[in-house]
Amino acid sequence: MKLDVYSSRDMILWGLVALAWPSRVAAADPSGMDMPTADFYPWKRIFSDNFLVNAPRGTFADKDKYGTTWHSRGWDWDADPRNASVAPTVDSMHRGIYSSARTLEVSNGLLDIWPHKAQGPQFGANGKLEGGEWKEVVGKPWQAERPYVAAITPYVLGNGKSAMRFGRYTVRFKVEYPKTASGQNNYTAAKGYKTAWLLWPRSEAWPRDGEIDYPEGDLSTNYFSAFHHWTCNNSTSGPNPEECKTFKEGTGVQYQEGFERIASYSDWHTATIEWKNGRINFLLDGQLARSHYAHPRDATTTKRVPGTVPHPDPNVKAEELLMRWILQTETELNDEYIPATSEAHIKVDWVVVWKYEPCPGPECPK
Ligand SMILES: *[C@@H]1O[C@H](CO)[C@@H](O)[C@H](O)[C@H]1NC(C)=O
Ligand SMILES: *[C@@H]1O[C@H](CO)[C@@H](O)[C@H](O)[C@H]1NC(C)=O
Ligand SMILES: *[C@@H]1O[C@H](CO)[C@@H](O)[C@H](O)[C@H]1NC(C)=O
Ligand SMILES: *[C@@H]1O[C@H](CO)[C@@H](O)[C@H](O)[C@H]1NC(C)=O
Repeated sequence: MKLDVYSSRDMILWGLVALAWPSRVAAADPSGMDMPTADFYPWKRIFSDNFLVNAPRGTFADKDKYGTTWHSRGWDWDADPRNASVAPTVDSMHRGIYSSARTLEVSNGLLDIWPHKAQGPQFGANGKLEGGEWKEVVGKPWQAERPYVAAITPYVLGNGKSAMRFGRYTVRFKVEYPKTASGQNNYTAAKGYKTAWLLWPRSEAWPRDGEIDYPEGDLSTNYFSAFHHWTCNNSTSGPNPEECKTFKEGTGVQYQEGFERIASYSDWHTATIEWKNGRINFLLDGQLARSHYAHPRDATTTKRVPGTVPHPDPNVKAEELLMRWILQTETELNDEYIPATSEAHIKVDWVVVWKYEPCPGPECPK
């Protein structure tokens, strides 16, 4: 942890938080670490979920389960897949179908996210999905080869509201892989699926309003990374126009910074995105995360932080830039065939979200 990242007050409060998070042998939570509940300046806790309400597969989006506290992409298709007027919702690569009913289950205090292939109906005359054709389908017994994935968003502000400016988003998770005959993790057997758990702008204006991803990675690599896609106006106006003016859809990856290879999916970890005025920190287990790609590097940035003045587009007011948190589990960003047997179980023990409430007055804590 670099000292210039936090003020000394933050460091002291971090110490208090560390004391408040005992790693008891007999912790109540299955991951061995209890869900944190404390507020600490400048963060005020507004949402948490310990996944204590059991939800058998197919019921996650029900109102008496998680339907009033989480939004599930594709829930309306899930509700009646035979209704031809409701299209399934496809993932970023137009390969996976978002289906909380098929992929989510809550039991023993854990949310289980299960990306996998299974039987699926054909949609439209040519097997078209919303927004494009699923390339793998051609010539394959695709009734058994639909990848099902999940994207869920907590209503952190209650009443169906999930988007806010700044915030501290924490998730405790691990991936359980298929095993080899000798009981080892078989990472290859999870090929085709990834997490891109992220903050995404409510405006849907991308790359203009930025994107913050963590933990992101292909499950088969067994490591996850963090990425910050800069707020970017591809016109020649605004600050640093030279970095944006050549932006083209599909090549936007140049306009991001990555902190790659932070930690392994196969162990329990706590991943935190701390998005505040002028800075984004990616934390691992309560400490500033480090990238282990090429050179070890602290996972923190001040570059073009969304919601921070000046926005690259002078027409966008910084305070209007809101983002929502999506636990987006989807297919890999390539066209490689996903074996029908590929799968993984992503276990989530708890999530906690804090609102950013810096103190405005002279009586603020020093
Ligand atoms: C199909 O879904 C649409 C949109 O939600 C709804 O208006 C319609 O009533 C549904 N049709 C049937 C037969 O349930
Ligand atoms: C791991 O999984 C892959 C894909 O299912 C399989 O081809 C391979 O044989 C497995 N490896 C071992 C050692 O079990
Ligand atoms: C600039 O961004 C807009 C909106 O995202 C897009 O329609 C347009 O094609 C982009 N222009 C270039 C040159 O990439
Ligand atoms: C870029 O900024 C200009 C004005 O500075 C604005 O007219 C334009 O809409 C912006 N483009 C995007 C994609 O935000």
